[in-house]
Amino acid sequence: MEAMGAVRGLTPCISSPPPNSSSPTHRSNILFRRNNNPQKLAAFHSQSHLFSYSPTSPLTHSSSRNNSFTPHIFLPRLVASMEQVEETYIMVKPDGVQRGLVGEIISRFEKKGFKLIGLKMYQCPKELAEEHYKDLKAKSFYQKLIDYITSGPVVCMAWEGVGVVASARKLIGATDPLQAEPGTIRGDLSVQTGRNVIHGSDSPDNGKREIALWFKEGEVCQWTSAQAPWLRE
Ligand code: RTP
Ligand code: MG
Repeated sequence: MEAMGAVRGLTPCISSPPPNSSSPTHRSNILFRRNNNPQKLAAFHSQSHLFSYSPTSPLTHSSSRNNSFTPHIFLPRLVASMEQVEETYIMVKPDGVQRGLVGEIISRFEKKGFKLIGLKMYQCPKELAEEHYKDLKAKSFYQKLIDYITSGPVVCMAWEGVGVVASARKLIGATDPLQAEPGTIRGDLSVQTGRNVIHGSDSPDNGKREIALWFKEGEVCQWTSAQAPWLRE
C-alpha cells in the first residue's frame, strides 16, 4: 500500500538519517539545505519523515535488503509538510525566572503540541535588549523596559510548529495582564504590564529575526518528535 502513495523519481536532499530518526540535525545543516533548494524542499522542515523505503526491484529479497532500498516520498507526509511551519521566539522575562515560573511556561507550550528547538538561560546585555526592542525606542516606557529585561537572567526559547506565532500570542495573552483572559499565561500568572513574565514574537518574520538574534548557530536543534503522527493527521 505504501508504494501507492509514493512518488517515484524524486531525489531527497538528505541522505543519511533513517526514516523517523530522532537524532538531532544541527541548524547549520538546515540552512545549507535551504540555500541549495530554495524552492523545492525549503518548506519541508524535517525531511527524514517524508520518505518511505522500499526495494528498488520486486525481485529484491531479504538477503539483499540492507543495501538495495530506495527512498520514495510518501504523499501524506509530503502534504502535511507543505503546511507552513513557523518558528517563534519565546522568552521568560526576569520576573518569570525569579518567581519560579519557567517550568509552568514551558509546560504550556509542550502540552499544546509545539516543538521546542532551542532553550537556554541567559543574562541579557543592554545592547541586545535594545536591539530586540528597537521598534519601541520612541515609547515613554522604553528605558524602563530595557532595565526590566536586563535586571536578571531570562530563559530564551525557540518553538516550532504550524501557526505557532499567532497561537503562542494567544497562549501568552494581552500585554496588560489585567486585560489578559484567564487561562492565558499573563492572565493567570501576572498583574502588571511592566512585569508581564513572558515575550512572544509578533510575526513569523520577527520570529526568525529574534531567534537569529538570541541564538548562535548550532544552538537551535532540528529533531523529529515521536509525537508528530499523534498531533497532525
Ligand atoms: P512582548 O514584545 O514583550 O511580547 O510584549 P507585547 O508584544 O505584548 O507588547 P509590546 O507592545 O511589544 O511591548 C513590549 C513590552 O514592553 C512592556 N510595556 N510596558 N505602558 C507600559 O508601561 C508598557 N507597555 C509595554 C511590556 O513588558 C511589554 O510586554
Ligand atoms: Mg512585542
